[in-house]
Amino acid sequence: MLSLSSTIPLSPDHSIPILGLGVYLADDTTGASLSAIRTGYRLLDTATDYRNEAEVGKAVKECGLSRDQIFVTTKLWVTDHGREKTLKAFHSSLKRLDLDYVDLYLIHSPSGGHILETWDTLIELQKQGLIKSIGVSNFNVLHLQKLMEARPHAKPAVNQIEVTPFLTRDEVVSYCQSQNIVVEAYSPLTKGSLLNDPGLVAIAKKYNKSPAQCLIRWSLQRGFVCIPKSSNEKRIKENADIFDFEISSEDMATMNSWNRNAWFDWDVIDTAGWLP
Ligand SMILES: NC(=O)c1ccc[n+]([C@@H]2O[C@H](COP(=O)([O-])OP(=O)(O)OC[C@H]3O[C@@H](n4cnc5c(N)ncnc54)[C@H](OP(=O)(O)O)[C@@H]3O)[C@@H](O)[C@H]2O)c1
Repeated sequence: MLSLSSTIPLSPDHSIPILGLGVYLADDTTGASLSAIRTGYRLLDTATDYRNEAEVGKAVKECGLSRDQIFVTTKLWVTDHGREKTLKAFHSSLKRLDLDYVDLYLIHSPSGGHILETWDTLIELQKQGLIKSIGVSNFNVLHLQKLMEARPHAKPAVNQIEVTPFLTRDEVVSYCQSQNIVVEAYSPLTKGSLLNDPGLVAIAKKYNKSPAQCLIRWSLQRGFVCIPKSSNEKRIKENADIFDFEISSEDMATMNSWNRNAWFDWDVIDTAGWLP
């Protein structure tokens, strides 16, 4: 049974919580992160590009829990690929976070190129104990295959991609799941854009839940890690209040059939080629 404390193993000694708080464009990142932690969230998802790593680090310090109880993700921006730039960018992130290590460090997008050199640098940082798990974001099947062919002993633990019932990304999702790469769903609420979709509203009504709660529940039942963003305490709580119902297999199938390739962030995943 899924619960707010459920996790998925990334390695024998490191697991990722199934629900986290995204903080892209958060109004008050420290406040939102503290609200989330009080609610029971244990995963905070930031990035160099979000310019709020320091605020996330502040919440980790102020929350009163030990460091190993909070899972912190940050990401390498596309202009920082290549060994020297990656090392510099990673250490700058760690300094802004004011932490000794990050739980998950992701290559934010393959579009920065130099993927193998960058990946090797992440492996190096992981060996130094500065990163617990390494992963990627916005990678398509081609990117994953090429990376894993070249580095078969260091596969990505996670691929963070935009995925919702309206953008099911079947090919990359099946590939990740077949390779034991955890799919982490970003923009799981379609950035709020499709919360009034009539089919979704009908499902929400049936389960006496909100459309946002049904999207998050769908994501978790698909086996994804889900990182909805909210800066609002009421909605942060609402988004975690999803463990007292289950979407039936028939309704999951209906939701899976809504795919219409509707993406709301950057559509890099299916169009980008391999950039050596
Ligand atoms: N790797 C990548 O390339 C990538 C790209 C995009 C996002 N991400 C990550 O994924 C996280 C989530 O994605 P996102 O921020 O793009 O969008 P999202 O989570 O799909 O949607 C966030 C929007 O929905 C609203 N919202 C939140 N809960 C709600 C609820 N219960 N009812 C109605 N509206 C609600 C939020 O407003 P309020 O804040 O006012 O509640 C905000 O406007 C990001 O914060 C980031 O950490 C990663």
